[in-house]
Amino acid sequence: MLAGKHIILGITGGIAAYKSATLIRLLVKKGAEVQVVITPSGKEFITPVTLSTLSGKPVISEFFTANTGEWHSHVDLGLWADAMVVAPATACTIGKMAHGIADNMLVTTYLSAKAPVFVAPAMDLDMMAHPSTTANLALLRSYGNIIIEPAAGELASHLIGKGRMEEPERIVEILEQFFSRRQPLAGKKMLITAGPTYERIDPVRFIGNFSTGKMGYALADAAAELGADVTVVSGPVSVTPRNASVKVVSVESARQMLEACEKVWPDSDIAVMCAAVADYAPLHPADSKIKREGHDIPTIELTKNPDIAATLGVGKRPDQTLVGFALETDNEEFNAQSKLKSKNLDMIVLNSLRNPQAGFATDTNQVTIFKADGTRADFPVKPKTELAFDIINTMID
Ligand code: C5P
Repeated sequence: MLAGKHIILGITGGIAAYKSATLIRLLVKKGAEVQVVITPSGKEFITPVTLSTLSGKPVISEFFTANTGEWHSHVDLGLWADAMVVAPATACTIGKMAHGIADNMLVTTYLSAKAPVFVAPAMDLDMMAHPSTTANLALLRSYGNIIIEPAAGELASHLIGKGRMEEPERIVEILEQFFSRRQPLAGKKMLITAGPTYERIDPVRFIGNFSTGKMGYALADAAAELGADVTVVSGPVSVTPRNASVKVVSVESARQMLEACEKVWPDSDIAVMCAAVADYAPLHPADSKIKREGHDIPTIELTKNPDIAATLGVGKRPDQTLVGFALETDNEEFNAQSKLKSKNLDMIVLNSLRNPQAGFATDTNQVTIFKADGTRADFPVKPKTELAFDIINTMID
C-alpha cells in the first residue's frame, strides 16, 4: 500500500522525536519515499544526520540552505506529497498549524500540502488535556486533517496519562489503512440528525419515541471514517460516537433540533436526517408537575412540530445533498417516493418495519434506498454499522 508513496514526515521538538527514526525505517521498508521536514527545536531532540541517513534524503529545516542560498520550495513539497505526517506534533506546532502561523518550513509546507495530513500529538497529559489543545485539534479536524490520537501510558515526565505519541508501527498501519480505503468524503462537511426528540408536557413528562440514535451515530462514525467533518445534532440518547472527530450538538425538542440544524446547514455539503422527530408537541407545556389528585383527566392540546428535513429542503443549494429516512407501515414505497419529492430530498432511506430485525433499538436494519434520479437499491438485513457505509456509498455513487 505504501510502495512508491511520497510521505513528508514533519518532526517537531518533543521527546518522542526519537521514535521518528523507527517511523522512517518502517516507511522506507514498505517502499515509501520519505522527506523529513524538521522544526528548529526538533533538531534539539534528534540529529538530521540520523534522519537523512535513514530516509536517504537531505533533511529540510530552513527556508534556505545556509551555505548555498538554495531556496526550499514548500509549494513543490506540498504538491509532491501523497501524505504529510506530523509526528511527533507538539502543542506549539499544533497551535501554529491550526492558526496558520507559518514561521518555519514545517508549517509553510503544511499550509501548501494538497495531500491528506496526519497529526500525531505527543505532549504531557496536562498540555494534552488543556482546552487550548483540544480547540486547536478540533480546528485541525475541521480542516480535514486526521488526528492520530495519542495513547495513554507513562510519559517522559514519568506521569501517567494520555499524551504518548502513537507507536510508529501503529502510525504505519493507519497510513496503510488510509491508502487502502478511499476517503471520498474528505473535505466535506456533513450534518446528521439522530435519536428521538422529547416534547415536554411538564417538567417531568414528555412525548417521545423509541429511537435510540444507533443508526444516526453509525452513520456519523462511517462518514467520519470516510473523511467527512461530521456534526451530529442529537436528541436525548445514551449512545456516543466512536470516532473522536465527530462533534455532537445535544438538543431535546424538535424546535431546538431545527434551530441547531439551521445554524449548521448553510455551511454543510451534506445533511442526513436520521432523527425520529416527534410530529407534535404539547401546545402549553406546564411549568410545574401536573398533579393527579383533585384534577380531572387532563387533555393535552398538541401543536404541529416543524418538519426539519422539509425546512432544510426549501433552502437547499444545488451544491448541497439532503438525505431523509422513512419509516412506513403501509404503501411503503409510494410514501417514501412522495417524501423524496415533497421534502426536496436527493435520497430517501426506507426502513422496513415488516422485518423484526429492522427499525428502532435493534443493532440491525433492513433498508431500500430511492434516489431522486430514479435509481433504487435494496439491501439485506445487516448491522447498522455496516449499513451506514452502504447508505453513504449509495449517496455518493
Ligand atoms: O414525514 P416523515 O416523518 O415520515 O419523514 C421522515 C424524514 O423526515 C426523516 O428523515 C426525518 O428525520 C425527517 N423529519 C424531520 N422533521 C420532522 C419530521 C421528520 O426532519 N418534523
